[in-house]
This record gives sequence, C-alpha cells and structure tokens, in this order.
Amino acid sequence: MIGRLNHVAIAVRDIAKASDIYKKTLGAEVSAVVPQPDHGVSTVFITLPNTKIELLEPLGADSPIAKFLDRNPDGGIHHICYEVADIKAARDQLLKQGARVLGSGEPKIGAHGKPVLFLHPKDFNGTLVELEQA
Ligand code: CO
Repeated sequence: MIGRLNHVAIAVRDIAKASDIYKKTLGAEVSAVVPQPDHGVSTVFITLPNTKIELLEPLGADSPIAKFLDRNPDGGIHHICYEVADIKAARDQLLKQGARVLGSGEPKIGAHGKPVLFLHPKDFNGTLVELEQA
C-alpha cells in the first residue's frame, strides 16, 4: 500500500528565515512563499533530489499548526507524507486494521492539489502521517 515518501513537513514560526536556511545555508531549490488560507498555513516547497521538504507557517487565527508550535517553540517535524495509489482503498484497508483517520474520513484536496488524508499519530509511532494519492 505505502509508496514513495512525498514530503516531510516542518512547522516553523518564521517561514522567510526557515526558507533562507534551506536556500543559503543548505543550497536547496526553494519555492516562493505560498499562502494557503484554506489550510491555515503558508507554505514553502523545497525540492530535493529524492523528495520534498514542506515548510509550514501558521496563517490566520486558528491554524492547525498553532498548537504544535506552542508545544515546539523552535519548530519541528510536523508530519510525513507517503504516496498511495488509491487513497480510498488505502483508507478502507487502514480502518479495517483499526487505524484512525482524522476528520470526516473523506479525502480533502491538499496543498499539492491532490487528495489527502491524515492518520492519527497514536497509531503510527507518535508521527502524524499524511497519505497523498499519487
Ligand atoms: Co503535507
């Protein structure tokens, strides 16, 4: 079921500063800041040879990453995203095995314009897992 690692998402307080670390210090290919009001975050995508890093900065009053940054004031890894070929088939298989899908359980269109779901961190070794239909 599980496919390629699509991205690792890192929550940050200052996306311009974080972006500079990847661009100037690490020499990575870094996108412009993209505000995503539907998701309550601003994003920067960093393209690496084998995967992507996604920087997330809170946007708006009730950003889904605000609490995470309260607990992790220096920022930190927020979630990892794995690709699946068929997101609904993957969801049904995971539910059958007792995993919890966050929200309504219906895939939403994620930051890359593809259907995504999030899985409960308590079922995956303390890591929030995003599934994205490849
Ligand atoms: Co993501």
